[in-house]
Amino acid sequence: MAMTSKILVLNGPNLNLLGTRQPELYGSLSLSDIQAACEARGRDLGFEIDFRQSNSEGEMVEWVQQARGVNDGVIVNAGAYTHTSVALLDALLTYEGVVIEVHLSNIYQRDEFRHHSYVSKAADGVICGLGGHGYELALEALQRIFQTRG
Ligand code: DQA
Repeated sequence: MAMTSKILVLNGPNLNLLGTRQPELYGSLSLSDIQAACEARGRDLGFEIDFRQSNSEGEMVEWVQQARGVNDGVIVNAGAYTHTSVALLDALLTYEGVVIEVHLSNIYQRDEFRHHSYVSKAADGVICGLGGHGYELALEALQRIFQTRG
C-alpha cells in the first residue's frame, strides 16, 4: 500500500483577505476556496494536506522548522515576505523535503521589487500568474517529483 505523503501548504500575510483583496490581481477565490480545492486534489493524489495561513513572519519560520522530518513537501506562497524575508529563506534551506513556490499573480509583470524572491533560492520549482489553480499544479508537480525520485 502506498504511503500517504504529507504536504504543508503555507500562506503568508494578507492572503487571508483573498476574494476581497485586489480581485483584479488575485482573483475572486477566497483562501477557503483554495484550501477546499487543494484538499480535493490532494485526496485524488493520495496526499494529506495541512493548509495554513499566517500574517506573522516568525510563525511562518516556526511552521517551516516544524515541517522538518514531518512533511514530504511544502507549497509556499509567502506573500510579501517572498521579497523581504531572509529568515524564511534560511528556514526553508534547513528543510530537506521538496519546496514549490506559488504566487497567484505574475510577479514579473508587477513592481520591480516583486521580481526578486528570497524563497526561490530554496524552491525546487516556482509557479506564478495562474491564480488559485497554481496550488493544484504545485500538488501535481509534487506527485511527479515523488514518483520520479521514488
Ligand atoms: C503574491 C505576490 C506578492 O508580491 C504579494 O506581496 C502577495 C501575493 C501572489 O500570490 O501573487 O501578497 O505572493
